[in-house]
Formats: sequence, C-alpha cells, structure tokens
Amino acid sequence: MKFSIRTYGCQMNERDSEAIEALLVQNGHEQTDVEAEAELVIVNTCTIREKAESKALGKLGILCARKRKDPNFMVGAVGCVVQRLEHEILGFVPKLDFAIGTRSKAFLPEIIDVIKSGGGPVVDCGNEVEFNEKAWGEHKKGELTAFVNIILGCERRCAYCIVPSVRGVEWSRNPEKVLEEVQRVVDIGAKEVTLLGQSVLQYGVRNKTWADDYVSQRGYKEPFPRLLESVDSTSGIERIRFISSHPSRCTDEFARAMAELPNVCEHIHLPLQSGSDEVLKRMRRGYNTQRYQEAVAVIRKYMPDLAITTDIIVGFPGETEEQFEDTKKFMEEMNFDNAYIFKYSTRPGTPAAEWEDDVSEEEKTRRNQILLEDQNIRGQKINEQLIGSSVEVLVEGLSKRNDQKFSGRTRTNKIVIFDGIDDLTVGDLVKVRILSAMPQTIYGEIE
Ligand code: SAH
Ligand code: SF4
Ligand code: F3S
Repeated sequence: MKFSIRTYGCQMNERDSEAIEALLVQNGHEQTDVEAEAELVIVNTCTIREKAESKALGKLGILCARKRKDPNFMVGAVGCVVQRLEHEILGFVPKLDFAIGTRSKAFLPEIIDVIKSGGGPVVDCGNEVEFNEKAWGEHKKGELTAFVNIILGCERRCAYCIVPSVRGVEWSRNPEKVLEEVQRVVDIGAKEVTLLGQSVLQYGVRNKTWADDYVSQRGYKEPFPRLLESVDSTSGIERIRFISSHPSRCTDEFARAMAELPNVCEHIHLPLQSGSDEVLKRMRRGYNTQRYQEAVAVIRKYMPDLAITTDIIVGFPGETEEQFEDTKKFMEEMNFDNAYIFKYSTRPGTPAAEWEDDVSEEEKTRRNQILLEDQNIRGQKINEQLIGSSVEVLVEGLSKRNDQKFSGRTRTNKIVIFDGIDDLTVGDLVKVRILSAMPQTIYGEIE
C-alpha cells in the first residue's frame, strides 16, 4: 500500500519516521512524498508545547475528513501526542485508524494488516524498555547526514517538560549496536552522524554499556567519551555531532575527548533555559549559572573555536522582569552562536503545571522578541568575524532560497551559501572563503 509520513517535532521524531518508513518498505509497502497519492498517511506527532500538539491534531483532523470521499483511505498517528493522550486521542480524532505510542512501533506492519481487514481502530501505547534493534535500526540509502539513537527516554524531570512521561525511562543502547549502526549508515553514504539522546552525557549512567574489561585507547573512563572515541574510528566517517548535552555532565574528560577526536565537530548544543538562578532552581534543571559557565569554560579551554547554541524558555511561571533581564545579560555573557527561544507552555501532569501560568502571552512574546533581536545582533557579530577566513564545508545540496547556489554546513554547524564549481557533488568537503555574513547564514566562494 502507498503510504506517506508527516513528521512534527525534534530529530528523534525525524529518526523514528525514517525507521518506520524503512520498516514498512521492508514489509512490501511503497513510500510516497505526495500525500494526495497515499492510501495511508501517518502523522508523527510532537507535544513539547501546546501549539505543537494542536498542529498535529489539526493535521490528523484534516486527513480524516478525506475519508468521507474515500472510505478506504487510512490515517494513523504515532509519537509523543499519542503517548500522552493514549485512548483519549480518539476523542479528538474519532476517525483515526491507529494510534501508536513512542515505544511500540515495531508492530506497525501487523497493525496495518489488522486494520485493512476491518479490525480498527488500534491504540497501542505499550512501553518497551529496550531499543527494538530489529525494527529500529534501519536507514534510508544515500543520506548524507544520519541520526543514530544512543539513549531512549529521559529521567531528568525538568519541571516544565513532558518528554519524560512520553518518551519513558532512560535507557542507553548497547555500544556494539550503536557502532554497528554507525558503520552501516556510513557504508551506505553518510558522511556525518549525529548521536541522539535527550541528554547524551547520561550515556551509560542508568544502565551499563561497556564491559568491565573494555580499554579505551586514549584512556577514557566515562561511557560517553568512550563511545565518541569508538564512533570516531568508524572508517569513512567525516563528522560526528551529538544532541542534546546537559551542563551537569560536561566533565574535563568529555571536553578533552571532543577536542582530541578528529571527527567530532566543534559545536555543542547546550540548553541553558534561563539565566536566572532562581528560575533554574524552580525549573529543576540541576545547575546554576555558575555551573553552566564552568561547563562552557572547560570545553572552550580545550576547543577555543567551539560554537555554542542553546535553548531558552521565556515566561516560565513566576519569571519576573528582573529574572528575564538576568537571562538577557547571561546570554550576552555566554556569547551564544545561536539560540532557540521558546515561550513557556503548560504541559498537563508536569510539576510546573501546578503553578499559575502567570506571565501573559503578550509579555512572553515581548520577551521572546527581545532575546531574538539580541541574538541576531550577536550572531551577526560572531559570523562577521569569519569574513576573510576559510572554512571546511560539507556540501549538502542546492540552497533552498536560491537554486543557483549551493548550501552546506561548517563543522561549527553554520549554514554556508556559495556558488558551485564544475564537478561539485553533494557530499564533497570543500574549502570556502567567507565573503559576507548574516545572523543565521554565511556566504562565500569555493577556494
Ligand atoms: N532534552 C533536551 C531538550 C528537549 S526539548 C535538553 O534538556 O537539553 C527541546 C526544548 O524545548 C527544551 O530545551 C526547552 O527549551 C523547550 N521546552 C521544553 N518544554 C517546554 C515547555 N513546556 N514550554 C516551552 N518550551 C519547552
Ligand atoms: Fe525535558 Fe529536561 Fe529531559 Fe530535556 S533533560 S527532555 S528538558 S526533562
Ligand atoms: Fe521530540 Fe516533541 Fe517528542 S520535541 S521527544 S517529538 S514531544
């Protein structure tokens, strides 16, 4: 049957969608990007903020309306909204054929068969603790940049966050399986691999990963540096990234590993959330601004060219003007290369949902805009410093805005736009001289 997948949310969802696609193709179904041609559309949903959830539910509603004209058309939901609502999702989208949670996707081919023979709707939010290696390790051929899961779930329980309740317990995948998957994606064309986990530095903390007799070549003792070292020695790999990192585990050894391992890129995504110690405490982030500063300092000590990006939440319950100003100042001090700024959104069942959402929507928007403007100025300044220098760029394809130009990224994860030259191929690593800069993009020419 012809199917199409629509994905909302983070890289984890992107990766899950890819694995679902591979699983269905293996079972004889045919993927299409044209939704109108599909006999089955699957929506992979996100519930990180209320808006993300309503977008996904809205999309499901629109798709289900198509059933009136075409009764055989099937609609399925997977992902975080399903895991949050379980059976209640049928109250929002009654015509849904199936709803599968974040850890029970392996049975999708069987579920589709059940529905085809008239057995729907099926709701399954079972919670497999371990990674289902057979169903979840598959990748598309020819992708240049690949995601590989290393940790499932999260147990940090930040006060505002729904992820622990929809992604389940934290569980680190066996390193042999990770390494085997990394080698496999590189063998089929990937040049860059991003290791995925809500908190990658938790690797091997809750459950054991490496055998006791494992010896790291560079003498690393902590599980994540060991993993990075092994991934780094994959033959054919050019770039290694990982998201997200948590300031509380940015150790000296981790910083050293980032600097020593040649394929690990000079970029870290290190969500700050707030620059006010009181707010951080109420968010239950497990660090204060001083600890965050120390984490950045230790990595910059080993890697002076490091680019740091972050996430910020504005309008957390009780956030005063002064506390917001603290965030504004601290962001300036940290000189972030880029920042994703989110307006706080209450998620049912989280600790913060008990507190009044007392910063008005207008005020959240105002704070959001102030931080965005600051970040644009900062990003512009940082990027302008690159003018005249030469950077290594992985050619990713034609520019989205201008198909006469090529687009790629630096090792520091900055987007670079440049003119092509003869024989230039996607996947090439080229040296680009930087000519001009914008806050989010830099422009240059191949040397
Ligand atoms: N595990 C990652 C974050 C994953 S969620 C980490 O802790 O680093 C991605 C981002 O969404 C978070 O960093 C946070 O900034 C934002 N976010 C999470 N819950 C939110 C909420 N309830 N309202 C607004 N933003 C939220
Ligand atoms: Fe959410 Fe915190 Fe876990 Fe990140 S670390 S997923 S913000 S609970
Ligand atoms: Fe990701 Fe959204 Fe789920 S951010 S983990 S898809 S709630």
